[in-house]
Amino acid sequence: MFDLNGKIALVTGAGQNVGEGIAHALARQGATVAVNDYHADRAQKVADDITAKGGKAVAAPFDVTDLDAVTKAFAEVAANIGTVDILVNNAGTAGPNETMKVSPFREMSVDYWRGIIDVNLFGVLNCCKAALDPMVEKGWGRLITIASGAGNVGLDMGVSTYGAAKAGAIGFMRHLAMENAPYGVTANTVALGMVLRNVKDPELVKKWSDPIPVKRLGTPEDAGALAVYLASEESAWMTGQTLGLNGGTTTS
Ligand SMILES: NC(=O)c1ccc[n+]([C@@H]2O[C@H](COP(=O)([O-])OP(=O)(O)OC[C@H]3O[C@@H](n4cnc5c(N)ncnc54)[C@H](O)[C@@H]3O)[C@@H](O)[C@H]2O)c1
Repeated sequence: MFDLNGKIALVTGAGQNVGEGIAHALARQGATVAVNDYHADRAQKVADDITAKGGKAVAAPFDVTDLDAVTKAFAEVAANIGTVDILVNNAGTAGPNETMKVSPFREMSVDYWRGIIDVNLFGVLNCCKAALDPMVEKGWGRLITIASGAGNVGLDMGVSTYGAAKAGAIGFMRHLAMENAPYGVTANTVALGMVLRNVKDPELVKKWSDPIPVKRLGTPEDAGALAVYLASEESAWMTGQTLGLNGGTTTS
């Protein structure tokens, strides 16, 4: 089950954290992984780590917000390792310029929210645009977007435009699922809960973990396991869904 040998996967924003975990998980199942990140050094390091562990990976650095760069990079990946069968739209940030700086909407500038919507929504559109035609021609494809619980529920955390962008991505994926279901292409979204790997302070970890029913934060490995399922042949009947991966924080 969940054998991805022979499949080509591209994971955006895979230079660290959640995307890195997803890239490793797909590679462990046999996929050849194009590791994207805006930072070329991060992408290369993860690709090298995967290769060192016996997996197959190449670095594919580009900015998901730049459609020309995305189109060019997908063409290069196709020429080097094959057309993308599995796209994981993971690149995203809750603040502009890759920061987690949050802000109430009343204090937000247009530049601030454009940066957030650019990466979390337009980045997804750009990559799906580049990935879809070859998938439809092949009659097989998997589109997976890493969204957030903030795209489903209101929060008093200063993430309103991030939530709007993630909600947009969730809605977009539902429509892609319907348009492309007859062609063997599925499209699903993960509404991810808290994965705060960089928070080391035990007090803070406890503060964020306590409200989660399973009493722990998520991990990149949790996200990787779900991505493997959604990327697999076995998930062919799963499409158009938004799956909450959040330790039970929300249920539906
Ligand atoms: N960590 C969490 O608690 C959490 C919760 C819910 C959802 N998410 C979502 O999961 C995804 C991954 O989150 P993370 O915490 O691992 O993020 P992260 O900031 O740790 O890593 C994201 C990576 O994406 C890259 N990136 C950013 N903008 C890019 C661009 N324009 N083009 C290409 N690469 C770009 C960054 O360089 C970085 O290496 C994001 O979409 C995020 O919104 C995360």
